[in-house]
Amino acid sequence: MNQQEMKSLAGRGAVEAMVKSGMKLGLGTGSTAIHAVRRVGELITQGVLKDIRVVATSFQTVLECERLGIPLFDLNSQEIGGELDLTIDGADEVDPERRCVKGGGAALLLEKIVAYASKTYAIVADESKLVEHLGIAFPVPVETIPEARVTVRKAVEKLDAQAVLREAVRKAGPVITEHGNFILDVRFSSPVDPAALETELNRIPGVVENGLFTRIRPAIFIARADGSLEAAY
Ligand code: 5RP
Repeated sequence: MNQQEMKSLAGRGAVEAMVKSGMKLGLGTGSTAIHAVRRVGELITQGVLKDIRVVATSFQTVLECERLGIPLFDLNSQEIGGELDLTIDGADEVDPERRCVKGGGAALLLEKIVAYASKTYAIVADESKLVEHLGIAFPVPVETIPEARVTVRKAVEKLDAQAVLREAVRKAGPVITEHGNFILDVRFSSPVDPAALETELNRIPGVVENGLFTRIRPAIFIARADGSLEAAY
């Protein structure tokens, strides 16, 4: 299987295994999660899934849900009440303890709010996302208010890391997140303690949120190049 086929296998497989009628469902962002979104759309259209209330984690996901006629709700709405049964999302890295780095699509803020508000959390990924140590091959995204970009960069460098302001593609200047902030991509040269770092990064004034997800142990759906799908709950 090529990588696109693996992403599809993981996204669709998680929906088929975990999504049930009546659920309040968080749907994530990215090129893997979008296959889960599409499978939910298909199952709703076929009448297999009924009474699904979805919270989307980004504009990308909102637009895809709208295109597919998936019923969307605000996390704060009466129908959702700030709690979800299940969220399915992608990841940039997953370590052996199923801690993750997310935010490759700069949607980490709402992704984390939704993840931590979910009773069950599932990560969908191809096998290239499995790593021994987080934050070395793929940087940890840190969402930062624009006025603090230099002070946050300097604070991060004291943690023995390099921070690079993420540049936009087909827009001059930096990426502006869906909440009006910048992203600093932070790369560590040696293994870090992800749980401690998740807390420590958020203590730097001006940091809004970071892409380490360590406080919830997700189910994982990992697609392999041999066509198999490994599911662990
Ligand atoms: C977006 C994310 C994505 O879930 C993550 O970047 C994985 O994306 P992809 O499945 O396209 O590799 O965290 O902010």
